[in-house]
Amino acid sequence: MSTWNWVFAIFFLISVLCSVTLSDSGPIAQQKLDQVKDLPGQSFNVDFAHYAGYVTVNQESGRALFYWLTEAVQDPASKPLILWLNGGPGCSSVAFGMAEEIGPFHVDKDGKSVYLNPYSWNNVANLLFLDSPVGVGYSYSNTSSDLMSNGDKRTAADSLEFVLNWLERFPEYKGRDFYITGESYAGHYVPQLSQAIVRYNKANAGSPINLKGYMVGNALTDDYSDHVGLFQFMWAAGMISDQTYKKLNDVCNKESFIHPSSECDHMTDIAYQEMGNIDPYSIFTPPCSTNGITKRLLRRWHNVGQIGQSYDPCTEQHSLVYFNLPEVQNALHVYQSNSKSRWETCSNVVGMYWKDSPISVLDVHQELISSGLRVWIFSGDTDAVIPVTSTRYSIDALNLTTISPWRAWYDDGQVGGWTQKYEGLTFVTVRGAGHEVPLHKPKQALTLVKSFLAGISMAPFEQVIEPRASALEEVSGF
Ligand SMILES: *[C@@H]1O[C@H](CO)[C@@H](O)[C@H](O)[C@H]1NC(C)=O
Ligand SMILES: *[C@@H]1O[C@H](CO)[C@@H](O)[C@H](O)[C@H]1NC(C)=O
Repeated sequence: MSTWNWVFAIFFLISVLCSVTLSDSGPIAQQKLDQVKDLPGQSFNVDFAHYAGYVTVNQESGRALFYWLTEAVQDPASKPLILWLNGGPGCSSVAFGMAEEIGPFHVDKDGKSVYLNPYSWNNVANLLFLDSPVGVGYSYSNTSSDLMSNGDKRTAADSLEFVLNWLERFPEYKGRDFYITGESYAGHYVPQLSQAIVRYNKANAGSPINLKGYMVGNALTDDYSDHVGLFQFMWAAGMISDQTYKKLNDVCNKESFIHPSSECDHMTDIAYQEMGNIDPYSIFTPPCSTNGITKRLLRRWHNVGQIGQSYDPCTEQHSLVYFNLPEVQNALHVYQSNSKSRWETCSNVVGMYWKDSPISVLDVHQELISSGLRVWIFSGDTDAVIPVTSTRYSIDALNLTTISPWRAWYDDGQVGGWTQKYEGLTFVTVRGAGHEVPLHKPKQALTLVKSFLAGISMAPFEQVIEPRASALEEVSGF
C-alpha cells in the first residue's frame, strides 16, 4: 500500500468509527432501542409499531418522563400525532388512556394479558401517551423532593421540554399535524401545554411543533363554574338533599377545587354519604364492589380529589397487576432501579402535595381560541365529578358567539349526544358516558375524534364523514 492509500484507509476507518459511535448514542438509535417487540400476554399480532421509554426533561434534577407511542394502524406517515394526557393530578396515561380508554392495548381481567381495543384512536392517528408529571406512572425524578413540588407551571414546562426532545428522537414527526387531548385534571394540562407551545412557536421560527388544536373532556376548567354545576347536577339527579345542596353552594362555590377548605371538604363528605355507594364517575353503572365505600370517600376527598381516577376500580385493578409485572416493565424499557417499588394508577403523593393550580383556565382558552387553534370540549353526561352542567357554565363564561345552535348528533341512528358550535369552540356531549368517555362509549368516542380531526361537526343525522365534507365546511363556515 502506498502512503496515500494508508492515509485514505485510516481516514475511512475513523469516519466509520465516528458514524458507528454517533448512531449508537444518537436520538435516532434511541428510537430503535425504544421499539417494543411484544407485550407479555399478547396473543395476537399487530400491524403497527410501538415504542416506549424515557425522555429527560431536566438534567440537573434528573427528571425523566415516560412515554408510549402506538403508531396508526394504517399508513402512520400520513396520520396526525395525538398526545393524550390523564389528570388526577397524579394519574397515569398508561393506566387510563392506554389500558382502558383510547389505546389499542387494554388489560384483561386476569391482569396478565392484553386484548386489542377495536375502537382505539390509533385507527385514525398516531397516539402518544405521556405519564406526566414526575412521580406519575413510570415517570421519575432523581431528586425525590420533586415529587412533592409538582404544580401546573412546572408540568407545562417539563411537558414542552418533553415534546421538543421527543421530536429529536422521532424526527419523522417534526412538522406533523399535532393535537393534544385529555380529560379531567388534564383540563388544566392540555390548554396550559398548548399555550406553552404557541408561545414557544412565536419565539422560535421554524419550530418543529405543528400544533393544530386540542380537545378536553369532563375537564376541570373554572373552579366556580365547576362547583356550581357539580352541586346542581348532584341535586337535579336526585342524589343529595335540598339542605346539602344549599350548604354546598354556601360553603364551596368560591373555593379552589384542588385545595378546598376543611368546611367545604366536610360538606362534600356529607354529600357523598347521602349519595351512598354509587360510582360518582358514572352514576348509572354499578360500582366495583359494595364494601369499598369508606375507602373511596377517603381516597377521593381527603387525598385532594383524584379527578382522573377510574370509574371502575375493578378495571383499574387489572392494570395494577399487569403494569407491576417485571416482564411487562422490561418489555416497556422501564428502568427498574429508578421506578418506584410499586407502580400505581394514581399517585397519592403527587396529588396530595400539588402546588400551583389556578382557579380558572378560561383565560388560557381565550388566548388559544384567538390564536386560531381548533378547540373542542366534550362531556360524558352521566359523570358527577366534573359534570356536563359544570362544563356548560364554564363555556358560558367565555361569552362566545354561537355559530350553530344546540342540536342532537347521531351515531348508528341513535342520539349520541348534543352539540353546539361557537366561534372558535365546539362543544359535544356524549349521552350516557361517565367521566371517562372512551371507556363507557368507545364507539362514540372514536366518532368524536374522527370529527375533531376532520374539523367537521358531529353528524346531524346518519352520515359518513368524508374528507370532502371538511373542505366544504371550511368554505361555508357551517
Ligand atoms: C438518574 O440516576 C440514574 C442513576 O444514577 C441515572 O442512570 C439516570 O440517567 C438518571 N436520570 C436522569 C434523567 O438524569
Ligand atoms: C363575559 O361577560 C360578562 C358580562 O358582560 C363579563 O362580566 C365577563 O367578564 C365576560 N367574561 C369574559 C371571559 O370575557
